[in-house]
Amino acid sequence: MHSLMIVATAAVMSTVPVHAIAAGADKADVQQVQHGRRIYQQYCAACHGIKGEGKPGWQQRDELGELPPPPHDATGHTWKHADGMLYKTIRDGWRDPFNKTKRLTMPAFAGVLAPGEIRDVVKYLKTLWTPEQRRIQREESQKKPFPPETG
Ligand code: HEC
Repeated sequence: MHSLMIVATAAVMSTVPVHAIAAGADKADVQQVQHGRRIYQQYCAACHGIKGEGKPGWQQRDELGELPPPPHDATGHTWKHADGMLYKTIRDGWRDPFNKTKRLTMPAFAGVLAPGEIRDVVKYLKTLWTPEQRRIQREESQKKPFPPETG
């Protein structure tokens, strides 16, 4: 029994970046990150890239005057937003106010992902950032944390 648990734990940890664990993540955190990673691959990777690298030329408006999906890794700016802000963006969708079209280029995931699933996908995104970016984002999030419905 004991050895089985070690094998199961090792299997979970092997797919989570080492720094996520070194950052003092407890077991519940590791499970949420792992869950978030699966959600990311299913719902986000097609646009934001399998490793969160974004679409090439993401800072340039396309022929419709829209911004392509930005990266979520350390080269992007996702880490500059507090947990509460990221939660809202994913739940309600987003478009740059200067986009020439009115549609939400970032689709709303309300009704697709449960509040806890949105929280977990944000937790996964944090593993793509540098320790310094994570520290700044943690401070920002104290002012605007995940809303209560995320549990
Ligand atoms: C159909 C393509 C598409 C899908 C699918 C998609 N996004 Fe986006 N997302 C975008 C685009 C395009 C933008 C930029 C919109 C703009 O700034 O005009 C964006 C912006 C964002 C932003 C705000 C920018 C930032 O860096 O903070 C976040 C956060 C985000 N997406 C997270 C997600 C997550 C998490 C998922 C999966 C649950 C997801 N997106 C799925 C296209 C997509």
